[in-house]
Amino acid sequence: MSTSGSPRLALITGAGGGIGSAIARTLAPEYRAFVSDLDLDAARAVAAGIDGAEAVALDVRSAESVRAAITSIIHRHGPLDVLVNNAAVCSNGEFESSPEPDWQADVDVILGGAIRLCQAVMPGMRQARRGAVVNIASVNGHRYVGNDTYSAAKAGLLNLTRGLAVQYGRYGVRVNSVSPGTIATPVWRARLSIDPDTLHRAAAWYPMGRVGTVDDVAQAVSFLVSERASWITGIDLPVDGGLLAGNGAMALDIGANFVGDD
Ligand SMILES: NC(=O)c1ccc[n+]([C@@H]2O[C@H](COP(=O)([O-])OP(=O)(O)OC[C@H]3O[C@@H](n4cnc5c(N)ncnc54)[C@H](O)[C@@H]3O)[C@@H](O)[C@H]2O)c1
Repeated sequence: MSTSGSPRLALITGAGGGIGSAIARTLAPEYRAFVSDLDLDAARAVAAGIDGAEAVALDVRSAESVRAAITSIIHRHGPLDVLVNNAAVCSNGEFESSPEPDWQADVDVILGGAIRLCQAVMPGMRQARRGAVVNIASVNGHRYVGNDTYSAAKAGLLNLTRGLAVQYGRYGVRVNSVSPGTIATPVWRARLSIDPDTLHRAAAWYPMGRVGTVDDVAQAVSFLVSERASWITGIDLPVDGGLLAGNGAMALDIGANFVGDD
Protein backbone atom coordinates (compact mmCIF):
# COMPACT_ATOMS: atom_id res chain seq x y z
CA MET A 1 0.00 0.00 0.00
CA SER A 2 1.09 3.57 -0.58
CA THR A 3 1.25 6.01 2.31
CA SER A 4 -2.12 7.42 1.12
CA GLY A 5 -3.74 3.99 1.64
CA SER A 6 -4.52 3.30 -2.02
CA PRO A 7 -2.59 0.46 -3.61
CA ARG A 8 0.53 1.24 -5.57
CA LEU A 9 0.31 0.55 -9.28
CA ALA A 10 2.49 -1.79 -11.34
CA LEU A 11 2.28 -2.34 -15.09
CA ILE A 12 3.96 -5.39 -16.57
CA THR A 13 4.22 -5.81 -20.34
CA GLY A 14 4.09 -9.26 -21.91
CA ALA A 15 2.48 -10.44 -18.67
CA GLY A 16 0.38 -13.05 -20.45
CA GLY A 17 3.60 -15.06 -20.85
CA GLY A 18 5.78 -17.13 -18.53
CA ILE A 19 8.07 -14.65 -16.76
CA GLY A 20 5.71 -11.66 -16.96
CA SER A 21 2.84 -13.58 -15.33
CA ALA A 22 5.15 -14.66 -12.48
CA ILE A 23 6.24 -11.05 -11.98
CA ALA A 24 2.59 -9.93 -11.84
CA ARG A 25 1.75 -12.64 -9.29
CA THR A 26 4.78 -11.79 -7.15
CA LEU A 27 4.11 -8.04 -7.11
CA ALA A 28 0.35 -8.40 -6.63
CA PRO A 29 0.11 -8.54 -2.85
CA GLU A 30 1.67 -5.06 -2.65
CA TYR A 31 0.56 -3.57 -5.95
CA ARG A 32 -2.49 -3.34 -8.14
CA ALA A 33 -1.10 -5.28 -11.10
CA PHE A 34 -1.89 -4.21 -14.66
CA VAL A 35 -1.35 -7.40 -16.61
CA SER A 36 -0.75 -6.18 -20.15
CA ASP A 37 -0.12 -8.16 -23.29
CA LEU A 38 -0.60 -8.12 -27.04
CA ASP A 39 -2.59 -11.29 -26.45
CA LEU A 40 -5.54 -10.00 -24.41
CA ASP A 41 -6.92 -13.51 -23.77
CA ALA A 42 -3.61 -14.52 -22.19
CA ALA A 43 -3.56 -11.32 -20.09
CA ARG A 44 -7.14 -11.98 -18.96
CA ALA A 45 -6.33 -15.55 -17.97
CA VAL A 46 -3.39 -14.35 -15.84
CA ALA A 47 -5.30 -11.42 -14.30
CA ALA A 48 -8.21 -13.70 -13.40
CA GLY A 49 -5.91 -15.55 -11.01
CA ILE A 50 -4.60 -12.42 -9.23
CA ASP A 51 -6.54 -10.42 -6.63
CA GLY A 52 -7.28 -6.90 -7.84
CA ALA A 53 -5.39 -7.34 -11.12
CA GLU A 54 -6.60 -5.83 -14.37
CA ALA A 55 -5.95 -7.17 -17.88
CA VAL A 56 -4.84 -4.54 -20.39
CA ALA A 57 -4.55 -4.87 -24.17
CA LEU A 58 -1.21 -3.32 -25.07
CA ASP A 59 0.94 -3.73 -28.16
CA VAL A 60 4.34 -2.30 -27.29
CA ARG A 61 5.12 -1.80 -31.01
CA SER A 62 2.42 0.87 -31.26
CA ALA A 63 2.85 4.34 -29.74
CA GLU A 64 -0.92 4.76 -29.99
CA SER A 65 -1.66 1.54 -28.11
CA VAL A 66 0.89 2.48 -25.42
CA ARG A 67 -0.54 5.99 -25.08
CA ALA A 68 -4.14 4.71 -24.83
CA ALA A 69 -3.29 2.10 -22.17
CA ILE A 70 -1.20 4.43 -20.01
CA THR A 71 -3.64 7.35 -20.28
CA SER A 72 -6.52 5.11 -19.24
CA ILE A 73 -4.62 3.86 -16.16
CA ILE A 74 -3.41 7.32 -15.14
CA HIS A 75 -6.90 8.85 -15.53
CA ARG A 76 -8.50 6.23 -13.35
CA HIS A 77 -5.77 5.61 -10.77
CA GLY A 78 -2.93 8.15 -11.03
CA PRO A 79 0.71 7.69 -12.03
CA LEU A 80 2.29 4.26 -12.09
CA ASP A 81 4.73 3.34 -9.34
CA VAL A 82 6.31 0.44 -11.21
CA LEU A 83 6.86 -0.40 -14.87
CA VAL A 84 8.33 -3.74 -15.93
CA ASN A 85 9.33 -3.86 -19.60
CA ASN A 86 9.13 -7.59 -20.17
CA ALA A 87 7.50 -8.11 -23.60
CA ALA A 88 9.77 -9.65 -26.21
CA VAL A 89 9.88 -11.76 -29.32
CA CYS A 90 12.92 -13.70 -30.47
CA SER A 91 13.71 -14.50 -34.09
CA ASN A 92 15.83 -17.56 -34.64
CA GLY A 93 16.92 -17.40 -38.27
CA GLU A 94 20.35 -17.61 -39.83
CA PHE A 95 21.88 -14.10 -39.79
CA GLU A 96 22.54 -13.48 -43.50
CA SER A 97 19.09 -14.57 -44.63
CA SER A 98 17.10 -13.22 -41.66
CA PRO A 99 14.03 -11.55 -43.21
CA GLU A 100 13.77 -7.86 -42.40
CA PRO A 101 10.39 -8.17 -40.62
CA ASP A 102 11.86 -10.83 -38.29
CA TRP A 103 14.91 -8.92 -37.07
CA GLN A 104 12.96 -5.67 -37.04
CA ALA A 105 10.45 -7.29 -34.70
CA ASP A 106 13.25 -8.18 -32.25
CA VAL A 107 14.37 -4.56 -32.14
CA ASP A 108 10.92 -3.00 -32.25
CA VAL A 109 9.33 -5.08 -29.49
CA ILE A 110 12.31 -5.27 -27.12
CA LEU A 111 14.00 -1.90 -27.50
CA GLY A 112 11.29 0.15 -29.21
CA GLY A 113 8.70 -1.15 -26.75
CA ALA A 114 10.75 -0.16 -23.70
CA ILE A 115 11.41 3.29 -25.18
CA ARG A 116 7.70 3.85 -25.90
CA LEU A 117 6.61 2.68 -22.45
CA CYS A 118 9.23 4.79 -20.67
CA GLN A 119 8.28 7.86 -22.71
CA ALA A 120 4.65 7.37 -21.68
CA VAL A 121 5.24 6.55 -18.01
CA MET A 122 8.20 8.73 -17.00
CA PRO A 123 6.40 12.12 -16.99
CA GLY A 124 3.99 10.85 -14.31
CA MET A 125 6.78 9.26 -12.26
CA ARG A 126 8.89 12.42 -12.55
CA GLN A 127 6.00 14.59 -11.33
CA ALA A 128 5.23 12.21 -8.47
CA ARG A 129 8.98 12.11 -7.68
CA ARG A 130 8.88 8.36 -7.26
CA GLY A 131 8.87 5.25 -9.39
CA ALA A 132 10.83 2.19 -10.39
CA VAL A 133 11.38 0.69 -13.82
CA VAL A 134 12.82 -2.76 -14.42
CA ASN A 135 13.77 -3.79 -17.93
CA ILE A 136 13.93 -7.52 -18.55
CA ALA A 137 17.15 -7.87 -20.50
CA SER A 138 19.01 -11.18 -20.95
CA VAL A 139 22.38 -12.83 -20.66
CA ASN A 140 22.26 -12.47 -24.46
CA GLY A 141 22.67 -8.72 -24.01
CA HIS A 142 26.08 -9.29 -22.43
CA ARG A 143 27.65 -11.86 -24.74
CA TYR A 144 26.76 -14.06 -27.68
CA VAL A 145 24.89 -17.20 -26.69
CA GLY A 146 22.66 -17.41 -29.78
CA ASN A 147 20.03 -15.22 -31.47
CA ASP A 148 22.13 -12.33 -32.78
CA THR A 149 19.51 -9.67 -33.48
CA TYR A 150 17.54 -10.44 -30.29
CA SER A 151 20.83 -10.12 -28.40
CA ALA A 152 21.62 -6.79 -30.04
CA ALA A 153 18.23 -5.46 -28.94
CA LYS A 154 18.83 -6.69 -25.38
CA ALA A 155 22.25 -4.98 -25.34
CA GLY A 156 20.48 -1.76 -26.34
CA LEU A 157 18.06 -2.24 -23.46
CA LEU A 158 20.99 -2.44 -21.02
CA ASN A 159 22.25 0.93 -22.21
CA LEU A 160 18.79 2.48 -22.18
CA THR A 161 18.61 1.41 -18.53
CA ARG A 162 21.81 3.24 -17.69
CA GLY A 163 20.88 6.39 -19.62
CA LEU A 164 17.47 6.72 -17.98
CA ALA A 165 18.84 5.91 -14.51
CA VAL A 166 21.27 8.79 -14.79
CA GLN A 167 18.66 11.25 -16.06
CA TYR A 168 15.81 10.35 -13.69
CA GLY A 169 17.77 9.78 -10.48
CA ARG A 170 17.25 13.37 -9.36
CA TYR A 171 13.48 12.84 -9.58
CA GLY A 172 13.60 9.83 -7.29
CA VAL A 173 12.88 7.46 -10.18
CA ARG A 174 15.06 4.34 -10.38
CA VAL A 175 15.75 2.32 -13.53
CA ASN A 176 17.39 -1.11 -13.39
CA SER A 177 17.45 -4.29 -15.42
CA VAL A 178 17.47 -8.01 -14.80
CA SER A 179 19.30 -10.39 -17.12
CA PRO A 180 17.84 -13.88 -16.95
CA GLY A 181 19.68 -16.92 -18.22
CA THR A 182 17.70 -19.84 -19.64
CA ILE A 183 14.25 -19.97 -18.04
CA ALA A 184 11.77 -22.74 -18.81
CA THR A 185 8.81 -20.85 -20.33
CA PRO A 186 6.55 -21.22 -23.39
CA VAL A 187 9.15 -19.33 -25.42
CA TRP A 188 11.14 -22.60 -25.62
CA ARG A 189 8.19 -24.58 -27.03
CA ALA A 190 9.33 -24.46 -30.66
CA ARG A 191 12.87 -25.62 -29.89
CA LEU A 192 11.67 -28.31 -27.48
CA SER A 193 9.38 -29.68 -30.17
CA ILE A 194 12.46 -30.23 -32.34
CA ASP A 195 14.74 -31.40 -29.52
CA PRO A 196 13.03 -32.24 -26.20
CA ASP A 197 16.45 -32.46 -24.52
CA THR A 198 17.41 -28.79 -25.16
CA LEU A 199 16.85 -27.54 -21.61
CA HIS A 200 18.70 -30.51 -20.06
CA ARG A 201 21.70 -29.80 -22.24
CA ALA A 202 21.47 -26.07 -21.45
CA ALA A 203 21.53 -26.90 -17.71
CA ALA A 204 25.01 -28.41 -18.10
CA TRP A 205 26.41 -24.97 -19.05
CA TYR A 206 25.20 -23.37 -15.82
CA PRO A 207 27.58 -23.35 -12.83
CA MET A 208 24.59 -24.10 -10.60
CA GLY A 209 23.66 -27.10 -12.74
CA ARG A 210 20.10 -26.12 -13.61
CA VAL A 211 18.16 -23.68 -15.75
CA GLY A 212 16.13 -20.99 -14.00
CA THR A 213 12.51 -20.70 -13.01
CA VAL A 214 10.10 -17.84 -13.60
CA ASP A 215 10.12 -17.24 -9.83
CA ASP A 216 13.90 -16.78 -9.82
CA VAL A 217 13.36 -13.79 -12.11
CA ALA A 218 10.23 -12.50 -10.35
CA GLN A 219 12.01 -12.39 -6.98
CA ALA A 220 14.83 -10.28 -8.44
CA VAL A 221 12.30 -7.85 -9.94
CA SER A 222 10.41 -7.70 -6.66
CA PHE A 223 13.64 -6.74 -4.86
CA LEU A 224 14.64 -4.09 -7.39
CA VAL A 225 11.29 -2.27 -7.27
CA SER A 226 11.12 -2.39 -3.45
CA GLU A 227 12.34 0.04 -0.81
CA ARG A 228 15.09 -2.48 -0.04
CA ALA A 229 16.69 -1.29 -3.28
CA SER A 230 16.00 2.42 -2.68
CA TRP A 231 19.58 3.50 -3.53
CA ILE A 232 20.11 1.08 -6.39
CA THR A 233 19.73 2.46 -9.88
CA GLY A 234 21.38 1.96 -13.25
CA ILE A 235 22.44 -1.62 -12.54
CA ASP A 236 21.86 -4.91 -14.26
CA LEU A 237 21.20 -7.91 -12.03
CA PRO A 238 21.99 -11.20 -13.76
CA VAL A 239 19.67 -14.03 -12.67
CA ASP A 240 21.63 -16.72 -14.41
CA GLY A 241 22.94 -19.40 -12.06
CA GLY A 242 26.45 -18.03 -12.60
CA LEU A 243 26.53 -18.23 -16.41
CA LEU A 244 28.02 -14.76 -16.91
CA ALA A 245 30.63 -15.35 -14.21
CA GLY A 246 32.77 -17.45 -16.52
CA ASN A 247 33.05 -20.38 -18.88
CA GLY A 248 33.47 -23.56 -16.82
CA ALA A 249 33.26 -25.87 -19.84
CA MET A 250 36.19 -24.06 -21.45
CA ALA A 251 38.17 -24.03 -18.20
CA LEU A 252 37.79 -27.81 -17.88
CA ASP A 253 38.62 -28.29 -21.54
CA ILE A 254 41.97 -26.57 -21.11
CA GLY A 255 42.85 -28.54 -17.98
CA ALA A 256 41.68 -26.41 -15.03
CA ASN A 257 41.13 -28.35 -11.80
CA PHE A 258 37.74 -27.79 -10.19
CA VAL A 259 37.34 -27.87 -6.42
CA GLY A 260 36.49 -31.34 -5.17
CA ASP A 261 37.42 -33.12 -8.42
CA ASP A 262 40.59 -34.79 -7.09
N1 LIG B 1 12.67 -17.69 -21.21
C1 LIG B 1 13.97 -17.44 -21.27
O1 LIG B 1 14.82 -18.35 -21.36
C2 LIG B 1 14.47 -16.01 -21.19
C3 LIG B 1 15.84 -15.79 -21.02
C4 LIG B 1 16.32 -14.48 -20.95
C5 LIG B 1 15.43 -13.41 -21.04
N2 LIG B 1 14.10 -13.67 -21.23
C6 LIG B 1 13.22 -12.50 -21.34
O2 LIG B 1 12.15 -12.60 -20.41
C7 LIG B 1 11.01 -11.92 -20.95
C8 LIG B 1 9.78 -12.82 -20.91
O3 LIG B 1 10.06 -13.98 -21.68
P1 LIG B 1 9.21 -15.33 -21.53
O4 LIG B 1 10.18 -16.44 -21.58
O5 LIG B 1 8.25 -15.21 -20.41
O6 LIG B 1 8.45 -15.32 -22.94
P2 LIG B 1 6.90 -15.57 -23.30
O7 LIG B 1 6.90 -15.79 -24.77
O8 LIG B 1 6.31 -16.60 -22.40
O9 LIG B 1 6.25 -14.16 -22.96
C9 LIG B 1 6.43 -13.03 -23.79
C10 LIG B 1 5.11 -12.29 -23.84
O10 LIG B 1 5.31 -11.09 -24.61
C11 LIG B 1 4.12 -10.89 -25.35
N3 LIG B 1 4.37 -10.01 -26.50
C12 LIG B 1 5.00 -10.32 -27.67
N4 LIG B 1 4.96 -9.26 -28.50
C13 LIG B 1 4.32 -8.27 -27.84
C14 LIG B 1 3.96 -6.94 -28.17
N5 LIG B 1 4.24 -6.43 -29.38
N6 LIG B 1 3.30 -6.20 -27.25
C15 LIG B 1 2.99 -6.72 -26.04
N7 LIG B 1 3.27 -7.97 -25.67
C16 LIG B 1 3.94 -8.74 -26.57
C17 LIG B 1 3.68 -12.29 -25.79
O11 LIG B 1 2.31 -12.29 -26.16
C18 LIG B 1 4.00 -13.09 -24.54
O12 LIG B 1 2.87 -13.19 -23.69
C19 LIG B 1 11.40 -11.49 -22.35
O13 LIG B 1 11.88 -10.15 -22.30
C20 LIG B 1 12.54 -12.40 -22.70
O14 LIG B 1 13.41 -11.87 -23.67
C21 LIG B 1 13.57 -14.93 -21.30
